[in-house]
Amino acid sequence: MTIQRPKGTQDILPGNVERWHYLENMIHRVCREYGYAEIRPPLFETTELFVRGVGETTDIVNKEMYTFLDKGRNSLTLRPEGTASVCRAYVEDKLYGLVQQPVKLYYLGPMFRHEKPQAGRFRQFHQFGVEVLGADKPVVDAEVIGLVWDLYRRLGLQGLEVHINSVGCPHCRAIHRKRLQEFLHPLLADFCPDCRDRFYRNPLRILDCKNPDCRQLSLGAPTTLDTLCDDCAVHFARLQELLQVAGVVFRVNPRLVRGLDYYRKTAFEIMVEEIGAQSAICGGGRYDGLVEEIGGPPTPGIGFAMGMERVLAALELQGKLPAQKQNSFVMLVTLGDQAEREGFRILSELRRSGVPATSDLLGRSLKAQLKAADRQGVKFALIMGEDEINRQSAVLRDLSLGEQVDLTLGECVQALRQKYTEQREGD
Ligand code: HAM
Repeated sequence: MTIQRPKGTQDILPGNVERWHYLENMIHRVCREYGYAEIRPPLFETTELFVRGVGETTDIVNKEMYTFLDKGRNSLTLRPEGTASVCRAYVEDKLYGLVQQPVKLYYLGPMFRHEKPQAGRFRQFHQFGVEVLGADKPVVDAEVIGLVWDLYRRLGLQGLEVHINSVGCPHCRAIHRKRLQEFLHPLLADFCPDCRDRFYRNPLRILDCKNPDCRQLSLGAPTTLDTLCDDCAVHFARLQELLQVAGVVFRVNPRLVRGLDYYRKTAFEIMVEEIGAQSAICGGGRYDGLVEEIGGPPTPGIGFAMGMERVLAALELQGKLPAQKQNSFVMLVTLGDQAEREGFRILSELRRSGVPATSDLLGRSLKAQLKAADRQGVKFALIMGEDEINRQSAVLRDLSLGEQVDLTLGECVQALRQKYTEQREGD
């Protein structure tokens, strides 16, 4: 049997990878404009970081981590998300000491979760994430949500639903937890086994259960908005005011409970309905206790991560991905050793001067090479058969117009450089 890639992973092949470049370029551009710097943490970390950071009661830590012992018998985990790593780097690399504060970071790259694969849900997937550390004002929350909103707007994505909520701070959460448990207790026997377990460990997550029976049972349950303390209520009201000022269209969803333990105050999610069950294209929130939890100084933090596969799927469905650009401008078409040698010299010069150029690497007939050039959508073919080489010349054929001219070998590079410059200026 042939070897296959692991379930839930994908090969991003040529023809598709250009879309990734497009999305990545847009992300780098928007982050630069907003004043965020890129960070590249490792793809694996000590397991303890995620257990402490993401939280023992979360599905991610409980069921979905790729954890292994390395040869030194250290327990390591392929990162299921980026926030814990960024906070670890903030502490370990003393980013709190940087002159420029708050620390505004972003990252791109693969994450790993052992979930049941389905459309839009993978075991290796890619996130673009943003984290701001060291600032606790609601204007930071609004900036972060505004950044991703702006990115989607620039990509032309439509049908976005931005849901925001406040899950409170440890002080008001304790009051909510008690009220919620009082409400749920008489109904507990009818909930699914997961929710019965959550009742003791993290009852808030019951509000987020996808099981329709549980959803029905928890209708009318007190939400965190019912018990917000003054500080959390003021923060949430100000966030809404600022989002309105920035033109972000959002909805307050008191049942929005994120699946990670570290959230405080603001939580948010962005959905696009058309892409099916896995419609969440972005999720985030404030995590003011996390840096301290993993051993750093008390530091407020907020961020989000978006699933790049899901955003690309939505862009594709909405016809918002740009047409693929042709790669090469010219293809060298040669026959015989001498022509190959001269052609290779010209090819090298063209490439050194920045003109995208290829050649046939298979020793095919002139006809087959021209057909290949045509198929690849190359603009020019520079043809050197035996006759041309004997005359120290080449034929430059414009494949789109079907016109051709004779050039001496010495003229080829300059002529093609000029044509390439003209095309770029016309673009
Ligand atoms: P999350 O909600 O677990 O949050 O993931 C964020 C986004 O990653 C989701 O909205 C979804 O688009 C994408 N995603 C998650 N799992 C998968 C999967 N199995 N396949 C495809 N896409 C997926 C976090 O990861 C937090 N670290 C976000 C954050 C940053 N909060 C504060 N800062």
